[in-house]
Amino acid sequence: MEQGLVVTQLDIQPGECIKVKGKIMADAKGFAVNVGKDSSNLMLHFNPRFDCHGDVNTIVCNSKDDGTWGEEDRKADFPFQHGDKIEICISFNEMEATVKVPDGEFQFPNRLSMEKIEYLAVEGDFKVKAIKFSDKL
Ligand code: GAL
Repeated sequence: MEQGLVVTQLDIQPGECIKVKGKIMADAKGFAVNVGKDSSNLMLHFNPRFDCHGDVNTIVCNSKDDGTWGEEDRKADFPFQHGDKIEICISFNEMEATVKVPDGEFQFPNRLSMEKIEYLAVEGDFKVKAIKFSDKL
């Protein structure tokens, strides 16, 4: 997937929140929001797939530890449509990361027991309008 926005040197603590606002492209095949320590160590890869890697309308979540993907977690819901303008809100605690979107909320375990988020990346068919880092949810 095409690399988009990348933010490093972050200091996002448990209970704080990362908001990414933007638009899912009209012909989107998939996009992903990654958070973690760096590109090789991800607490969460949140990857809505409209039609890619053999998946149709499926959210795939995963972690990455020292460059190696963990076990994929596929979600039952897919509350996204081509062309949607959405805001994605990511927060975490010692147990799990939470992703809130307008029509859904998803959890994924904090497998690497990360204590802060230092890295954010948005990739694929999503245009970023705004990002916000907030010390409150
Ligand atoms: C792979 C894909 C990666 C990532 C990963 C998640 O198949 O190439 O971009 O989505 O799955 O497990």
